[in-house]
Amino acid sequence: MSRVWLVIVFVLISKVSSSIIINPSKVKQISWKPRAFLYQHFLTDFQCHHLISLAKSELQRSAVADNLSGQTKLSHVRTSSGMFISKNKDPIVAAIEDKISSWTFLPKENGEDIQVLRYEHGQKYDPHYDYFTDKVNIARGGHRIATVLMYLTNVTKGGETVFPSAEEPSSRRGSEASSDLSECAKKGIAVKPRRGDALLFFSLHTNATVDTSSLHAGCPVIEGEKWSATKWIHVDSFDKTVGAAGECSDQHVSCERWASLGECTNNPEYMIGSSDLPGYCRKSCKACCKEALWWLELCEGQRQNMEVDQMQRQCLDYTKSLFLEGFLDGQFLQLQQLQDENNPDFVVEVVSLFLEDSERLVNDLTFALDQKIIDFKKVDAHVHQLKGSSSSIGAQRVKNCCIAFRNCCEEQNLDACLSCLQQVKQEYCLVKNKLETLIRLEQQIVAAGGSIPTIEFSF
Ligand SMILES: *[C@@H]1O[C@H](CO)[C@@H](O)[C@H](O)[C@H]1NC(C)=O
Ligand SMILES: *[C@@H]1O[C@H](CO)[C@@H](O)[C@H](O)[C@H]1NC(C)=O
Ligand SMILES: *[C@@H]1O[C@H](CO)[C@@H](O)[C@H](O)[C@H]1NC(C)=O
Repeated sequence: MSRVWLVIVFVLISKVSSSIIINPSKVKQISWKPRAFLYQHFLTDFQCHHLISLAKSELQRSAVADNLSGQTKLSHVRTSSGMFISKNKDPIVAAIEDKISSWTFLPKENGEDIQVLRYEHGQKYDPHYDYFTDKVNIARGGHRIATVLMYLTNVTKGGETVFPSAEEPSSRRGSEASSDLSECAKKGIAVKPRRGDALLFFSLHTNATVDTSSLHAGCPVIEGEKWSATKWIHVDSFDKTVGAAGECSDQHVSCERWASLGECTNNPEYMIGSSDLPGYCRKSCKACCKEALWWLELCEGQRQNMEVDQMQRQCLDYTKSLFLEGFLDGQFLQLQQLQDENNPDFVVEVVSLFLEDSERLVNDLTFALDQKIIDFKKVDAHVHQLKGSSSSIGAQRVKNCCIAFRNCCEEQNLDACLSCLQQVKQEYCLVKNKLETLIRLEQQIVAAGGSIPTIEFSF
């Protein structure tokens, strides 16, 4: 009795583990441009069945949930849009995801939920790339680096995956007997769907730029039915949610150390980011000014559905944070109090003047400190003006930088002046973006029919 159980347990364990262990001899290279590989019998029949039945029950659930358009019409829509199976939904799905991670050497957390698609006769997926070019999609997890496409059924005819821009290798290794392929599949390097096989291809080059040869299509199904499951994998975690309201944080434990080693200036694209994407160490680089605007754009759509009082609360919180973090002082409050119905744009106008002035002065300073012979008196005069301008609007941190700057001018210390200039630039950039964010928030409130909330502070 106990021996029988042992045997059963042993057989079960070996079945389960054999389905997780990666066997490189089952993998063949399909193409180098793009990098594409086929793993034969990646999934067991049981796993294929399981994914299909999960997708079918999801299909039924949504048909019941939304019965307005009628079941057949609905299922038609769902077929083309596909069904997602949430990550780690059950141990079987989790094991498949583990295996994908082992094969691709890419972390599980970088993957999206598995998408299951069903193609019936005549259905296809036109040529497309899996990478995105818009920043909203890239914001979560970065670019899609790789795709694992698993075939859950055999297709009698058609339904191949074809790479029309792939570079034909001199000897077409592992290619299908062309008599077996549909016309569509002959337009490039093609893979015929076979139950359990998995196709892995990369959408990025090894230098992380997008690979246009990764263009691919699902050929029309001519005979039979095609089910596939897709796992898209990003360069970064897809589980990590995109930063919350105006939050400024480092995304890597080493940010502070890197920043102290000068990486913010040596490697700004990674550390601070570009206009498309926020960087990983904005906090340590004191570059959060960029984030506020970036975040605002991302959430604009979301904010359109927000209630006015919610926006007012958010605006109030944001204003408070500007005072607490020392960006603004009581002078700014006084300006706000001067604004009334007769002068509805007063603060906006004063802020624009300040920004114009400062921009010019910072440029003048940069120019003055770049001369062969430095006129420290002139530099000091510019700093004096900038100090006056920032204190009139309550830009406290810029003002404080200017005070330190003037001391350096007095000592005629060029290195110290240059470092002060960097600090002034940084603080100016920060307060500029914070003020612009605040103004946009206020404008959205007014546009939604609300009034701008005022804060009471005692200094
Ligand atoms: C959808 O609604 C119709 C009546 O409007 C009903 O007869 C049918 O059973 C419903 N289908 C499902 C799947 O709930
Ligand atoms: C799918 O096709 C392969 C060969 O092309 C065959 O070995 C396998 O048995 C088929 N599977 C099913 C479920 O028909
Ligand atoms: C990245 O690599 C690809 C392929 O090797 C090459 O064509 C491309 O020029 C490279 N791009 C950069 C920016 O290095």
